[in-house]
Amino acid sequence: MCGIVGYIGFRSAREVLLNSLKKLEYRGYDSAGVAIISEELKIEKKKGYIDNLKIDFDGSVGIGHTRWATHGIPDDRNAHPFTDCSGKIAIVHNGIIENYMELKEKLIEEGHQFKSDTDSEVIAHLIEKYYQGNLKDAFFKAISHLRGSFAIVAIHADERKIMAAKKDSPLVVGIGDHEKFLASDIPAFLSYTNRVMILKDGEVCEVTEDMVNVYDFSGKKIEKKIEKINWSAEDAEKGGYEHFMLKEIYEQPRAIDDTLHSLISRNEIGMDFEKIVIVACGTSYHAGLTGKYVLENLLHIPVEVYYGSEYRYRAEVNDSYLAIFITQSGETADTLAAAKRAKEIGFPSLGITNVVGSSITNYVDHVLYTYAGPEIGVAATKTFTTQLTTLYYFAINSAMNRGLISKTKYRELMNTLREMAHAVEEVFEEEEKIIEASKIIAEKEHMFYIGRGLNYPIALEGALKMKEISYIHAEGYPAGELKHGPIALISNGMPVIALVPEDSTYEKMLSNVKEVSARNAYVIALSPNEDVEKYVDFLIRVPKTDPLFSPFVNAVALQLLSYHTAKLLGREIDKPKNLAKSVTVE
Ligand code: G6P
Repeated sequence: MCGIVGYIGFRSAREVLLNSLKKLEYRGYDSAGVAIISEELKIEKKKGYIDNLKIDFDGSVGIGHTRWATHGIPDDRNAHPFTDCSGKIAIVHNGIIENYMELKEKLIEEGHQFKSDTDSEVIAHLIEKYYQGNLKDAFFKAISHLRGSFAIVAIHADERKIMAAKKDSPLVVGIGDHEKFLASDIPAFLSYTNRVMILKDGEVCEVTEDMVNVYDFSGKKIEKKIEKINWSAEDAEKGGYEHFMLKEIYEQPRAIDDTLHSLISRNEIGMDFEKIVIVACGTSYHAGLTGKYVLENLLHIPVEVYYGSEYRYRAEVNDSYLAIFITQSGETADTLAAAKRAKEIGFPSLGITNVVGSSITNYVDHVLYTYAGPEIGVAATKTFTTQLTTLYYFAINSAMNRGLISKTKYRELMNTLREMAHAVEEVFEEEEKIIEASKIIAEKEHMFYIGRGLNYPIALEGALKMKEISYIHAEGYPAGELKHGPIALISNGMPVIALVPEDSTYEKMLSNVKEVSARNAYVIALSPNEDVEKYVDFLIRVPKTDPLFSPFVNAVALQLLSYHTAKLLGREIDKPKNLAKSVTVE
């Protein structure tokens, strides 16, 4: 987990690196640092945010890093970039070098002196070990010893070039005229160029201002395509909103529309399956869990949902299924590990991701892209509703192809899915009411979210969003389970968010509401039905939709509720403590 950048060209490397790192801060902000060739190699690195860096040197070649700590506590010493003993080589690394201890011991025996506790520092010393006046040769030799995951960018004070390598961590090259950029993610350099080369696992690149040569790890040259990105740099900025998260919440109608258009325009994915297993982490897992209800409802086949980190513990039972991997970043290590396992076993697979060319696309047979655009806020919002859009689309289409629904039903469901962009806009009209509710919640320390069926995963997602950004202790439960334990925790005035759609769960949800009200909980309900007001302390009216689609409007209302609560509490909404946007360690 970390963001890495590199620059070679004619601009101030200091400015480019700082601008680019700022765009990657969501990948980790435990420490930051840059190395710039300014006659000699100069380094500035510090614990904490990028703004802490005081750089009084400049040049036109450099590398930078923003860290999410794995090996070694977050402090100045463990901040990247790392140098070798001569102080001429500098590297930045994202990933984990699994065999670093044995490499480090050997290098120490050979006389290398280490300054940090990190796994990454061995890379700089390995390059030094092999360096005989040619960075490219030394770099190839060094990486041949590495086990684990890595995106590495390296420079040498005496050579005007950058070497980089990728295995299981993201790395892209930005192509400008007489300048080149390297970064973990495209928004890092989007204000300079929209032409990119997406590196694949097992690729090394040699970059000067006028050339990019790509090789495999054995040194064989590879021809690569340059792709044009049509997000503007503006798309990746806040666009006038106070936080990325709020901007991204408001982008959902557009994101849902774009995703649906792209799904409709692509060719049918002909896949045969009688069972589905969905694997994902965090918010994507909640999209998967919602997808389970929709897929089972429309396809009448079993669907299991696993956390990425738990899938490996599933015994190899005699089973066959379509494996669906949902990951907005396409880089979550736990989801990738699960995808690799499914691939080894030979299951047909489908990936749902927001990032073109991301690692997940290498492990699946088919990919469906969500078109949410770059999501910068650590708390996932628009990627969640576009994942839902994709899963609903997939379920409706598969049901139609299998003759399980009539053409009329198909059109009806597709029309309702299309209307979700508008339904979400209607949720925004309730924002004032949601702010009022957040004032009540902001004063509390604990809260529950309850839902049934399709809205049980939305209760989980609502609670996750609340704890992620407001740090209030929030737990989601299936409403019927409350009486089997959690109800013991209800105390006077404790907020309980109840999801009450007008479907078969309506009556039972009202019973659960009465149970917690009787124990003096403060019940805030989300429902399209105004009668609910009689039974609760506070009602947030959500737009009326086909109940099968109620997760869309409920999820968006809960995103706003978390956002406003966190804002009232003065939290760092876009960069919550201890969290990172993309978790590339298992
Ligand atoms: C991190 C993020 C979550 C996200 C999860 C899965 O934990 O903080 O917001 O849901 O990773 O990410 P993915 O990119 O695989 O969807």
